[in-house]
Amino acid sequence: MKKSALLFSIIAIAVFAMSFIYPAKIFKQDAKVWVVPESAKKMKNPTEATAENIKVGKTLFAQHCKSCHGATGKGDGPKSGELDTPSGDFSTKEFQAQTDGTIFYKTKEGRKDMPSFKSKISEDEDVWLIVDYIRTLSAK
Ligand code: HEC
Repeated sequence: MKKSALLFSIIAIAVFAMSFIYPAKIFKQDAKVWVVPESAKKMKNPTEATAENIKVGKTLFAQHCKSCHGATGKGDGPKSGELDTPSGDFSTKEFQAQTDGTIFYKTKEGRKDMPSFKSKISEDEDVWLIVDYIRTLSAK
């Protein structure tokens, strides 16, 4: 191989590799826009936010979500320092303005550092109970 061809190959490989590293950084700023299908937004929560249900939701939240989202959903769990994208603040008006269906969908699907709970929590009802608990985290 000619020297110039070799040099060209090295640059091409480097550019290719960089394209994988940099978008991740660019997308960080984009973290707010999470497109949720209309049908998902409209999903009805089949559970009722009774004290008993909220208690179960709280236990599930502690088990699956607290490590990143923190005990009160402020995004300050012990794992939060390792995340590339901030996990949000569940106590804000903006967060709480989302429908139950949206919160359910995001929990099921996951995105980047937010794991998908499709198989981790197999019962849909359990995810809805977590949504009931998350509703109690709004700043009063
Ligand atoms: C390993 C860390 C981690 C765990 C565990 C985790 N999350 Fe997340 N979560 C994230 C991150 C990071 C984001 C932000 C993702 C993004 O914006 O791309 C997020 C985002 C979310 C959002 C969207 C926030 C918004 O502003 O709309 C919801 C809802 C959510 N998580 C719910 C949950 C629930 C419910 C659980 C437990 C069943 C859970 N998460 C477990 C890291 C985590």
